[in-house]
Amino acid sequence: MSIEDFYYLSKTSGAMKNPRTRFSDEQFVRNGEDYLFRYLDSNVGRVDAGRRKFIKGMVFGIGAAAVASALGAIRGLEVPIVGAKSYTKMLLVDSTGSPVKASTFTVNDPVIALYEYPLQNEINFILNLGDTNNNPVAVPPSDVTVPADGTKYKFPGGVGPHKSIVSYSAICQHLGCSPPEIHLYPPDEMKPGMPPPALLPPNAITAANSAGIPAVIHCDCHGSTYDPYHGASVLTGPTERPLPAVVLEWDSSTDSLYAVGDVGVPVYGHTNTLVGGTPVSGTSTGVTAKINPFQ
Ligand code: FES
Repeated sequence: MSIEDFYYLSKTSGAMKNPRTRFSDEQFVRNGEDYLFRYLDSNVGRVDAGRRKFIKGMVFGIGAAAVASALGAIRGLEVPIVGAKSYTKMLLVDSTGSPVKASTFTVNDPVIALYEYPLQNEINFILNLGDTNNNPVAVPPSDVTVPADGTKYKFPGGVGPHKSIVSYSAICQHLGCSPPEIHLYPPDEMKPGMPPPALLPPNAITAANSAGIPAVIHCDCHGSTYDPYHGASVLTGPTERPLPAVVLEWDSSTDSLYAVGDVGVPVYGHTNTLVGGTPVSGTSTGVTAKINPFQ
């Protein structure tokens, strides 16, 4: 089992245990894989062909009598207690290993740029935020409230030459969808009635207007919306938790960026952002440009 498969199963386990996303054994017995894959698509994240095969092998490649115990095993799965002892300061580098320069990040770039930190497979956005004219906007420190329990924490604000660069976990705090389902909707995609593949619902635009911000992070899985200008605080549910922020440092003499820590709630699927996976090794982590979700 790959580490990605393991974490998919651990997310499945969390969804099955959650009373709001309860897995129905009765429906599973009646409808078999149709029900199982619909459940996983809606509550855990898209099941691609490779993972479908893996899950089929795990659940349907065994006798009927063993199905219940296989599902029980998934439900009972716990993320192992392994991880990092503390945050390591990591230089952000490109695919050639060269430091990425803060001033080269495009303002309001719709292309999803990601890097792993502090654990492998735990991906984070890096965003250079701007205004409606795509000029960089300084992101000040702000207090972030966690709607789930009313607690608050301090988001340290943006870094870089314009204090406009921020970084957040790219794993939705609702049920763990990841890019391209969750991504930045830059100002050019925030106008009402934009054609597909823009999927921003009117309530997200209304919430952004009320907050006075020109762009949002939105998860197309079930509609959670986050405010990237204020610590990825929650604008619309169903999420009840903000996206955790990676604390960045900018070296003005070299224009390099470093990941140095994390603030906010634990990354989705973890009880502690440092625990439950393998730390990224070394002293650097690679930033990869992924797809443009609007093309
Ligand atoms: S996973 Fe449900 S809104 Fe993101």
